[in-house]
Amino acid sequence: MHYNIKIFRFHPEQDAKPHYQNFELEADPTERVLDVLEQIRGEQDGTLAFRRSCAHGVCGSDAMRINGRNYLACKVLLRDLDTAEITIEPILGLRVVKDLIVDMDPFFDHYKSVLPYLINDDPLPADGRERLQSPEDRERFDDTTKCILCAACTTACPSFWANGEYVGPAAIVNAHRFIYDSRDQGAEKRLEILNEQMGVWRCRTAFNCTEACPREIKITRAIAEVKKAIQTGKLE
Ligand code: SF4
Ligand code: F3S
Ligand code: FES
Repeated sequence: MHYNIKIFRFHPEQDAKPHYQNFELEADPTERVLDVLEQIRGEQDGTLAFRRSCAHGVCGSDAMRINGRNYLACKVLLRDLDTAEITIEPILGLRVVKDLIVDMDPFFDHYKSVLPYLINDDPLPADGRERLQSPEDRERFDDTTKCILCAACTTACPSFWANGEYVGPAAIVNAHRFIYDSRDQGAEKRLEILNEQMGVWRCRTAFNCTEACPREIKITRAIAEVKKAIQTGKLE
């Protein structure tokens, strides 16, 4: 099938402003958008810049806007888009480094700000084994363990577009993952951080984040749970 692919191009060291470039190509509808980008870079323009690594929805490096919606390019088949006219742009709200590549540093700074690691100062069990928890306790935070830090959620969030200081849904998801871990002792500190001006209260329940997540994490629900924990002082 014949496709017309319109791609956002910007090389800040050479271009005064961004522009779009059209590429025509033949591709099978069962190919993925990532395959098409590889084809364009390999056969038509070797200067096209984008990030990818695993090509199987695991590494989270190829989040981009495809026909106006955030996706992982390796998880979208051409036929899923229902059109031969495809526009590919970088995710919004982060500085463009080149073409489809954005500066992820502010995103990871927000992530790091919520202490996304296990905090437990108790000595390890005397038998030298790991800290155990019940299957029910493990289940409590299972959904938010699935995050691959692709930034599709945060860069789809209108509150983040309005103010890049907002910690964003991805950071809250990763805080949730530890707040509700029965082995962790850092919940109070994380809830304090998320109760600050640029924390969870910036979320206006827009749901864009949940719709954008390639891992189908119930992000808005996780945010609501964190808000409730702050309000009630209890983890349920
Ligand atoms: Fe990506 Fe989903 Fe994690 Fe957000 S919550 S960074 S969309 S995997
Ligand atoms: Fe943004 Fe998601 Fe809240 S899109 S406003 S973080 S529900
Ligand atoms: Fe790794 Fe798409 S290339 S998630």
